[in-house]
Amino acid sequence: MKLVLASNNPGKLREIREIMSGSGIEVLSQREAGCDFEAEETGTTFDENARIKAMAAMRATGLPAVADDSGLEVNAMGGAPGVYSSRYCADRSYAETCRDIIAKIEGCPDRGARYCCAVVCCFPDGREIHCFATTQGQIAHTLRGTGGFGYDPMFLLPDGRTMAELTDDEKNAISHRGRAFRQLMEKLKDGEYDVKQ
Ligand code: IMP
Repeated sequence: MKLVLASNNPGKLREIREIMSGSGIEVLSQREAGCDFEAEETGTTFDENARIKAMAAMRATGLPAVADDSGLEVNAMGGAPGVYSSRYCADRSYAETCRDIIAKIEGCPDRGARYCCAVVCCFPDGREIHCFATTQGQIAHTLRGTGGFGYDPMFLLPDGRTMAELTDDEKNAISHRGRAFRQLMEKLKDGEYDVKQ
């Protein structure tokens, strides 16, 4: 089965291809599927935004399409940046944005945070699959590591490493995106969806 990934983010595409490898599902980027646009994320939840992106890619290509919408929620910032995680660093680098968040929560006793990921798959016949997963962590005091992308260098895991200090395989095993896409694969394997087509 060909599945269009409604994203042009190379970091996400690499992670999702890796997670879905061996599933019999061929993940195409939007560009490979011949559509080169970004649907506007006008939703107020991760699930709404994922559905908007998947639906737009499915309509444009006529193929089943999947989208994830993900982000970082910082407890001491009332859950921000949340669904605005990518827009939050629009005019600066992720390193600057991470340092800005670390400064904002300086002195706060609660440094807890979580990554969230909603995955929505839309089929041309109107069926939809919705999945959601999180990864819990803490905001580190300094940035460490060169792996992953985005906020990973400041996202501290219970084993003392940041998400950016994990290998790709280690990150996929525990990440919000890895978990949500594995839920999707389980649902696709249910028999209702013929992934070998
Ligand atoms: P989306 O493309 O609207 O889902 O944007 C998600 C944004 O959330 C990314 O651009 C990053 O800022 C952040 N984000 C989501 N997942 C991760 C992750 O695994 N590591 C680091 N940042 C992430």
